[in-house]
Amino acid sequence: MRIPFIAGNWKMHKTAAEARAFAEEFKALYKDTDVKTAICAPFVHLALLKEAFAGTDIKVGAQNAHFEDQGAFTGEISVKMLEDIGVDYCIIGHSERRQYFAETDETVNKKLKKLFEGPIVPILCVGEVLEERDAGREKEVVGGQIRADLAGLSADDVRKLVVAYEPVWAIGTGRTATPEQANEMCGYIREVISELYDDDVACDVTIQYGGSMKPANATELMAMEEIDGGLIGGSSLKADEFMQIIDF
Ligand code: PGA
Repeated sequence: MRIPFIAGNWKMHKTAAEARAFAEEFKALYKDTDVKTAICAPFVHLALLKEAFAGTDIKVGAQNAHFEDQGAFTGEISVKMLEDIGVDYCIIGHSERRQYFAETDETVNKKLKKLFEGPIVPILCVGEVLEERDAGREKEVVGGQIRADLAGLSADDVRKLVVAYEPVWAIGTGRTATPEQANEMCGYIREVISELYDDDVACDVTIQYGGSMKPANATELMAMEEIDGGLIGGSSLKADEFMQIIDF
C-alpha cells in the first residue's frame, strides 16, 4: 500500500527567521492526517526545521548532497552531515540542478547509491523539457533517466525510493501537466521499474508529480491512480497554501 506523500521544495527561498515563522504557522495548521509530509529546505535551515518539527509527523528534506563521504569539495555537503542532523529525505537530480549545476545521470546514480547506505530516503527527480515533449520523446527521455539513475541499485533499495515526475515545462511556469498526462508518465515510470526489477518493486515505489501543483489542481492530480503525491515548489512557501494541498 502506497501512502500519499506531499513534499515541499523551497528551492533557494527564505531566511532563517522566515523559515522559523513558516514552521510555527504550519505546525499550528497541521492536523494528523494519513498523508506523509516533508519540507525540503536550503541546507542552512535543516537543523532549525528538525528542531521546530520535533514531536510532529512533519519530516525534513535536503535538496542535494555530495556522493563522497568527505574531502576537498568546497561548498558541498555530505550525506553523513545530513544524517547527523536527522534529515529524513533528500531531493536528487532536480531539473534545476541538471540544468544549471552540471548534474548528470552519472552523478545522480552515485548520489542515490550513497544515500541508500544510510536511512535518508532519496526523492529522485526526472522529467523531459518542452522540445522533447513536443517531439513526442517524453517516454524515451524519462525512461532513459530512470534506467541510468537506478543502474546497479538493489530491488530492496528501489522499493524505498520516491520518484518525482517533473516535466520541466511545468516547473514554475504555472502550466501544469493535465492529470492524464501526469498519470500516463507516472504509470510509465512504474512500467520501466517493473521491467528493471519486477511488478512487486514497481508497486511499492512512491511516484509524485511536480510542476505548478497547487490547491486548485491538487485534488484532480491526486485522484489519478498512478500519482502518489506531489513535489511542490511555489505553493509550499506559504503554510496555508501548502496545508490545503496536504488536505487535497
Ligand atoms: P513548482 O516547482 O511547484 O514551483 O512548479 C516544483 C519543483 O520544481 O519541484
